[in-house]
Amino acid sequence: MAVMKSVLEAIGNTPLVEMERLVKHWKLNGRILAKLDHLNPSGSKKDRIALGMIREAERKGLLKSGQTVIEETSGNTGNGLALVCSVLGYPFVAVMSKGNSVERVRVSRAFGARVVLVDQAPASKPGEVSAADFDLVTAETERLTKELGAYCVGQFTNSDNAAAQERTGDEIWEQSEGEVDAIADFMGTGGGFTGIATSMKRHNPSVRCYVVEPENAAYYSGECAESFRGHRVQGGGYGREIPFLDRSLIDGCVKVTDKEAMDGARALSGVEGIFGGFSSGAHAAAARKLLESGEQGKTIAIVICDSGLKYLSTDLYS
Ligand SMILES: Cc1ncc(COP(=O)(O)O)c(C=O)c1O
Repeated sequence: MAVMKSVLEAIGNTPLVEMERLVKHWKLNGRILAKLDHLNPSGSKKDRIALGMIREAERKGLLKSGQTVIEETSGNTGNGLALVCSVLGYPFVAVMSKGNSVERVRVSRAFGARVVLVDQAPASKPGEVSAADFDLVTAETERLTKELGAYCVGQFTNSDNAAAQERTGDEIWEQSEGEVDAIADFMGTGGGFTGIATSMKRHNPSVRCYVVEPENAAYYSGECAESFRGHRVQGGGYGREIPFLDRSLIDGCVKVTDKEAMDGARALSGVEGIFGGFSSGAHAAAARKLLESGEQGKTIAIVICDSGLKYLSTDLYS
């Protein structure tokens, strides 16, 4: 590998690893391929969209030299943007709910970002971020964007988010030499699911694309019209409509409990040496359910979204 001009060149092109030990451990029939996106420089898959969205904003003339960049984030996009903005010389403000883990706040601050923490809604719990919490973060982001004359990245509506993660799908396809029968992905912005599913269906329309949902926020499974009950899978599962998700990409939904997600993360680290967070565990648990039911004998691709290091303040690995 040649000398890189900056750490930005180390974003993406992550390894794809066969979960042979996990498949044996859980006595499954089939294959799980894990895309190690927690190995991106700030520790999550969101480095890809941070770089992609900033580069596109520059190209489209939306972001001026030296202008402040702002974003509402559960933390990982903030970490990625903080890193990218520090290298490219933009001041960055991350607006976050207090419900997210403290590690993400500190990582953004380490890259020089200003982090604005927004109180949770009265009925919310720390470690569980609801749609109501996110609405408060959105309102504060809108206020600060005007006050600072900032460029708001807008990952929830910015199609360059999905475009950057379509590349993740292309990498999975190339690395597996087209040997993917299904993917399973947990949604926050839905950029990951949309991007990877778009890539898979472009390569082979018969690849099945499953949305992974917390049992307590099973919106796309059709069970969470109004009654969002909290869950611990940070980074998504807000139990509400996702603006740029094309529902025709969804072939099915897999529900996972907090315990299954946590057991999944612990099995990934304990059996495979892969240190992911709650959503990575949810992906492993979903792949397990698929291989135990309709996808027996098949190959399921999942993403390791972020590093377990971002959850050391929680009981995930205590
Ligand atoms: C840890 C983690 N997993 C999964 C997701 C969901 O990814 P996406 O926003 O691409 O749907 C996020 C988003 O913030 C995340 O931080």
